[in-house]
Amino acid sequence: MEVLSVTSEIYPLIKTGGLADVAGALPAALAESGVSMRTLVPGYPAVTGKMAGGREVAVFDDLFGVKGRLVAGRVAGLDLIVLDAPALYDRPGNPYVSPDGWDWPDNWKRFAALSWVASQLGLGLVDGYRPQVIHAHDWQAGLVPAYVKYGPSASLRTVITVHNMAFQGTFGADIFGQLRLPAHAFSVEGVEYYGGVGYLKAGVECADVVTTVSPTYASEIRTPAFGMGLEGLLNNRSATVFGVLNGIDMEAWNPATDPSLAQNYAASTVHHRAINKRALQDAFGLDAAEGPLFAVVSRLTWQKGIDLLAANIDMMVAAGAQLAVLGSGDAELENAIRAAAMRYPGKVGLITGYNEPLSHLVQGGADVMMVPSRFEPCGLTQLYALRYGCIPLVSRVGGLNDTVIDANVAALQAEVATGVQFAPPDEGALGDAIRRTLALHADDKAWKKMQRRGMKSEVSWQSSAARYAQIYSSLTGLTTHDSADD
Ligand code: ADP
Ligand code: GLC
Repeated sequence: MEVLSVTSEIYPLIKTGGLADVAGALPAALAESGVSMRTLVPGYPAVTGKMAGGREVAVFDDLFGVKGRLVAGRVAGLDLIVLDAPALYDRPGNPYVSPDGWDWPDNWKRFAALSWVASQLGLGLVDGYRPQVIHAHDWQAGLVPAYVKYGPSASLRTVITVHNMAFQGTFGADIFGQLRLPAHAFSVEGVEYYGGVGYLKAGVECADVVTTVSPTYASEIRTPAFGMGLEGLLNNRSATVFGVLNGIDMEAWNPATDPSLAQNYAASTVHHRAINKRALQDAFGLDAAEGPLFAVVSRLTWQKGIDLLAANIDMMVAAGAQLAVLGSGDAELENAIRAAAMRYPGKVGLITGYNEPLSHLVQGGADVMMVPSRFEPCGLTQLYALRYGCIPLVSRVGGLNDTVIDANVAALQAEVATGVQFAPPDEGALGDAIRRTLALHADDKAWKKMQRRGMKSEVSWQSSAARYAQIYSSLTGLTTHDSADD
């Protein structure tokens, strides 16, 4: 079975968030289920720079008005097909926004081109390569199912995975004429969305199967609060909407071998984390204190509940805790954390910008990983935390609900607790959860037990990759290792 994955970011080449981790880990995970996955990505400089050994497999003289070509090659264990179109993608830095922070004005064209090229690959553009399924990720690949639906192939199947309903790729109706879609595609059954063009809407409408990244989020998005306009459509097609939980790359995230840690460790040597904690305190300018060290590794946005955290910092410091925040995002939220760091030198530290190795050290050294999100389709930081023996403190939404077992009295007695959950996602409930976490931390023996339990929880791709393989084979009638086992 050949599946073409289409994504706007992929680890380790270009990453702004969890989508890159997922797109980067899926192919290897699926290989074990007998699925061969290649990935189509835009040729940003960070990608083309790695394709020196690649081979040109197609040329476009008129790709939405610009020139482009496809370069295939293997990089970092990934089979990539890179859409090299300098006029669209040869821009440094963040893949979606200009250096001054605004969305690139031609994003509609950049990601329409990506999706159109994917559909052409599905039609056999490149000799010897014909995927049976195209798996599109997020709004940037949202037009893929539309191009396939309105195109000539009856056998090509499409899956779209929604990683975040909050990003929908909506544009004015004026672009429609340039999308290379037939006129009747501008309709409720096609790409039309509240009078304009909706890329994610098009994907959710036209794909054979819609998945999202956790079972809880799959039900949440059928409600107005989480569906963000698409809940009606999702309800209409609920028989083909599935929640498939993300896993993590167990090699890239392994505390026993992680080169970014000051000290490697396993569940049986979890006390060695103290050495990482010291290195982490150094990196963030924190005192070498013994109290609980809370941490955040995140985009600093409203989604992530960073304002709820900011409102609790005075209480945390008064209770003897430290806080290390790694992240960047909204200026106002960044400033709130920065102000706290200035108020409490040695107790609160902020490092802005994107730093992959440091994110590993935070997981390996902090006592608590905070994810107080208002909504969270899956969330990967709490999964990394579990694997690293860093206790997750999370709101009870989306994938956070599905992956962390709250340390309530019953769960502690049954010895199944792996973290702390709170609801609703507001300042007061987070405050209560922080106080509950402080009390748990005071009992060193019970805490270490919970750490070791978390480190053994199942966070790999194994069962979810098998689930994707089943979805592909249900669409194509082709068997994979996993469907054959059923
Ligand atoms: P989202 O995709 O919504 O941002 P996830 O939890 O799914 O949330 O994924 C976030 C990913 O980005 C994780 O791999 C996390 O470690 C990483 N990350 C977030 N902020 C930073 C940062 N400032 N430096 C390094 N890694 C970061
Ligand atoms: C999105 C979501 C996050 C999820 C990630 C990967 O960015 O916000 O919850 O883990 O995609 O699926």
